[in-house]
Amino acid sequence: MKFFIDTANLSEIREAYDLGVLDGVTTNPSLMAKEGISGEQNVRAHYKAICDIVDDNVSAEVIATDFEGMIKEGKELAKIDDKIVVKIPMIKDGVKAIKYFSSEGIRTNCTLIFGPGQAILAAKAGATYVSPFVGRLDDISYDGIALIEQIVNIYENYGFATQVLAASIRHTMHLIRCAEIGADVATCPLKVITGLLNHPLTDSGLAQFLADHAKAAGK
Ligand code: E4P
Repeated sequence: MKFFIDTANLSEIREAYDLGVLDGVTTNPSLMAKEGISGEQNVRAHYKAICDIVDDNVSAEVIATDFEGMIKEGKELAKIDDKIVVKIPMIKDGVKAIKYFSSEGIRTNCTLIFGPGQAILAAKAGATYVSPFVGRLDDISYDGIALIEQIVNIYENYGFATQVLAASIRHTMHLIRCAEIGADVATCPLKVITGLLNHPLTDSGLAQFLADHAKAAGK
């Protein structure tokens, strides 16, 4: 299972990368805005800075919503670095753009997936990744994890190469459930990745080991 971090914050990306378990980064226009990044040049420079930290898989989202606009913008984004994956929304022109980029050998991440039919379309168009939003479905009383499971099963039925990238992950149990049902990737905030470290028995066990060691050493 690949771990991506879901942020445009450079210090959080560095922290996750330094842990040695990071396989990529996802951003979206809201996450870029949260870091105060705006203007074409600044946005590109920020994506480049992210690419310089990680080994691969930096999702950069297009703003255009028409086919020509998405192609133009996606090509510019892909030129920034070989690590860029062009993130395209699940809309009609987006599907066409994914097909185009797929034929050009440019990787894509189809975002804003909320149903299995959308995931089938994205896979048929040749998306590298699909991003179903687990947390946002849970927020409106739909089962986000069930959607991940459904898409994993459908892709297995037909051998689609598109990878299931579970997005909108809010807590460690989301991530663990995604791992159990075979999501290829989970993109999470830093606190979810580091949250996997925690267990009270690890803390108390380590404290006891160190105390016993100190006692035996006469300290
Ligand atoms: C990532 O690709 C998505 O844009 C992101 O996971 C959405 O997360 P949110 O629902 O917490 O905003």
